[in-house]
Amino acid sequence: MTQSAIKPFRRHVFVCVNTRDGRSACEDHGAKEALAKVKDALKALPFAKRDGVRLSQSGCLGQCEHGPVAVVYPGGKWISYSSADELIRFVLEAIEAPD
Ligand code: FES
Repeated sequence: MTQSAIKPFRRHVFVCVNTRDGRSACEDHGAKEALAKVKDALKALPFAKRDGVRLSQSGCLGQCEHGPVAVVYPGGKWISYSSADELIRFVLEAIEAPD
């Protein structure tokens, strides 16, 4: 397969679910549970709206002091969220934003 055959994602969301020994990390703030709720919210969308959207759990994104965090590409828009609902709103706005 050539590289040009790989279809890029329209939006790629990374949600940090990292833990760190004895130091604050995103999973200390319920990141995995928030990620699961975002997955459910995306699954509930019509296919046309979630087509080309990839949601990935990630390791440390290097923003631990702001955690829990997520980022969406292209554009690299970040969020430091305080609830799963806030993360869901962020992701839905990101995937509905014009390209
Ligand atoms: S643990 Fe999430 S950004 Fe570092």
